[in-house]
Amino acid sequence: MPGRESEFVCQGCGHVALAWTGRCPGCGEWNTLVETRRREPRKGGRGVRRPAPTRNAARPVPLREVEAPAVDRLTTGIAELDRVLGGGLVPGSLILLGGSPGIGKSTLTGMALGNLCAAGRSVLYVSGEESAAQVRLRAERLGGDALGVPPLAETSVEAVLGTLEAERPDVCVIDSIQTLSTEGMTGAPGSVGQVREAAGAVMEAAKRLGTAVVLVGHVTKEGSVAGPRVLEHLVDGVLLFEGERERSFRTLRALKNRFGATSEVGVFEMRAGGLVEVADPSARFVGEASRAAGSCVLCAMEGTRPLLVEVQALVAPTEIVPPRRVATGIDRNRLAMIIAVLARHGGPSLAAADVFVNVAGGGRVDEPGADLAIALALASAHRGEPLGAPDGPPLACFGEVGLTGELRFVAHPERRVAEAGKFGLAPVLGPESAEGVDGLKSTATLAAALRSVRGPGALRAA
Ligand code: TYD
Ligand code: MG
Repeated sequence: MPGRESEFVCQGCGHVALAWTGRCPGCGEWNTLVETRRREPRKGGRGVRRPAPTRNAARPVPLREVEAPAVDRLTTGIAELDRVLGGGLVPGSLILLGGSPGIGKSTLTGMALGNLCAAGRSVLYVSGEESAAQVRLRAERLGGDALGVPPLAETSVEAVLGTLEAERPDVCVIDSIQTLSTEGMTGAPGSVGQVREAAGAVMEAAKRLGTAVVLVGHVTKEGSVAGPRVLEHLVDGVLLFEGERERSFRTLRALKNRFGATSEVGVFEMRAGGLVEVADPSARFVGEASRAAGSCVLCAMEGTRPLLVEVQALVAPTEIVPPRRVATGIDRNRLAMIIAVLARHGGPSLAAADVFVNVAGGGRVDEPGADLAIALALASAHRGEPLGAPDGPPLACFGEVGLTGELRFVAHPERRVAEAGKFGLAPVLGPESAEGVDGLKSTATLAAALRSVRGPGALRAA
């Protein structure tokens, strides 16, 4: 069909259709057709042309002979962001910053660009959602350097590329990738085809011009619908900005990073003047920890950084079958496993009780080291007795619980114990294989741990 620039390709079977249909005529799957830009067929015949053997052939060399000039990273002036990026933005790289609407993506990128601008870097803020005047209003709230950032209110990919080409900024933020659309494709902005096409074009320009580009993308609750997820394989890094909108704490973590570790986490707080870095999140979370029944302090690791959080549990008798298991901030399956292990290995049976477990402060813990804290909080909530010595500080612990009731080693026991020590939480209850760490009271099994936290003699420094 001459004059048509796009076609619809089934993501399942590769069937090509000229118009969108809900069901693929090739394989019969629903909702698999994605608008794709048509590539011009090669002149001179069908199929893959066989090249002449000697011309145009690249000669691969061993990696040690590949030139890799050391690149200077662009530091954003926001320490928590730089840490998650692995030391700053890499020129020519493409970073996807995902998060639900209203979480603070525009605020974070606006602040970063302001700092870069003040440090003498050329920057560009492409806004497809807000007018330049609206962007200015936010910059006024942020104050200072944010007002030096030049905005471009534009939704056409071609226009954005033109400006990038002409301005050649060091860093460019595109807020958001879902608002961009390219000419020649009929799909609405934000559809899978449009998002992929726009990101592909921007990436090509970023690599060529050496511009570090941050693509902002909205993630829906399901995390999928034509969202930034389709870009994950394309970009160099994926950062996720999380938190509850009603709470002020936000965490920034890397899901993918070609230039650094994915384990780092940055913690922020949303205030009137923008996002403020929380350099010592443990202090915030432990300060709020209570000595109530069902509360336990967990010595967690967020990447290479120890973090103390409070795990809270509530156990309430119920006649509902099956009883409710509600987990906030921890994995639901992990909770089910711990409830089962408790019942078999020295803990209470919670078969006739509703169970609620919550990581206080709106955080999320995704490591096995949280098991023991969850188990102890549950046992304490069930008995209605606080953990540890009655006159002592809140109980702190860590350790993975195995299916046979044993306590298993988790990484960095010494850092976890040291962090607890900073706040006067000692001794820390942990697995036996971590023995030898100062301030650690080691226990081999969950049953032993449960015994050691009861009664007046509970967990005094040995
Ligand atoms: P925003 O960065 O626009 O979120 P996103 O781009 O992820 O959709 O801002 C989110 C919220 O933060 C917004 O509802 C208002 C609030 N906010 C503050 O509390 N303080 C501030 O200084 C700014 C700029 C925003
Ligand atoms: Mg925004």
